[in-house]
Amino acid sequence: MHFDGVFSDTLVSRCVRAGSIAVSTGAGVSAESGVATFRDPGGLWSKFRPEELANVDAFLGNPDLVWEWYSWRRSVISSVAPNPGHYALAELETLVADFTLITQNVDNLHRRAGSIHVVELHGNIERSSCTGCGRASAPDEAPPSQRVPHCPCGGLLRPDVVWFGEMLPQDAVREAWDAAERADVFLSVGTSGEVYPAAQLPAVARQGGAYTVEINPRPSAVAHQMHEILEGPSGIILPALVKAIRRQKQCA
Ligand code: OAD
Repeated sequence: MHFDGVFSDTLVSRCVRAGSIAVSTGAGVSAESGVATFRDPGGLWSKFRPEELANVDAFLGNPDLVWEWYSWRRSVISSVAPNPGHYALAELETLVADFTLITQNVDNLHRRAGSIHVVELHGNIERSSCTGCGRASAPDEAPPSQRVPHCPCGGLLRPDVVWFGEMLPQDAVREAWDAAERADVFLSVGTSGEVYPAAQLPAVARQGGAYTVEINPRPSAVAHQMHEILEGPSGIILPALVKAIRRQKQCA
């Protein structure tokens, strides 16, 4: 049912009492900033073929094409701003002793909104890494260009993101799983729940005893793992939820 502006007492009191909150976000949290999601109608994977752009064979076969596509995505992302959903999560972090923001997004908008404890499961589009020596470089070392740049070692630079068929960064996975296991409340925000291993997190959190909540205009593939579903846009629901938590904390 569409979110009607009122939160359950259970949800607010669970959040107020929580010593540990973990939030897992996907592309939907950035939709209201103007960043396209992947699987919604009109999303990136309805216009582009992931096998031509988001895997290592595609890159090795046509590095300039893949680099150009990521340069275009970088330019879109750098031209947009965090939205109220991102800012609400940054504020929530200040209200909870142990807070982890796990994201599948590579757009860096959570950090730009002020979130500090961010675990990036799929990398960060603002960084590049060398396919030869593995060195990660900051964006200004690899300025946007049509042609794929080279590392000082001679290797090709690639966007520092996880492509299909690749392992996720193991430190990030460990941190995300630990956070989900110890969470008292787990929020799954703006993800279709179709991509693993991230889609396992709600089950991990629930098995660990967390109160699990989804925020999404449409039920996701992992909706059955949720104690509550708040149907609607995260840019509206998250600020309202954080306001309710802050108010209740001030009364307590
Ligand atoms: P998807 O595109 O699969 O799903 C986006 C989700 O956001 C959908 O469930 C939408 O209903 C929801 N949504 C849309 N607008 C929203 C809004 N305003 N507020 C809240 N939710 C909204 O994106 P992800 O689940 O993030 O991987 O996709 C996971 C991974 O698949 C991505 O990280 C990417 C992609 O292939 C890699 O590139 C490795």
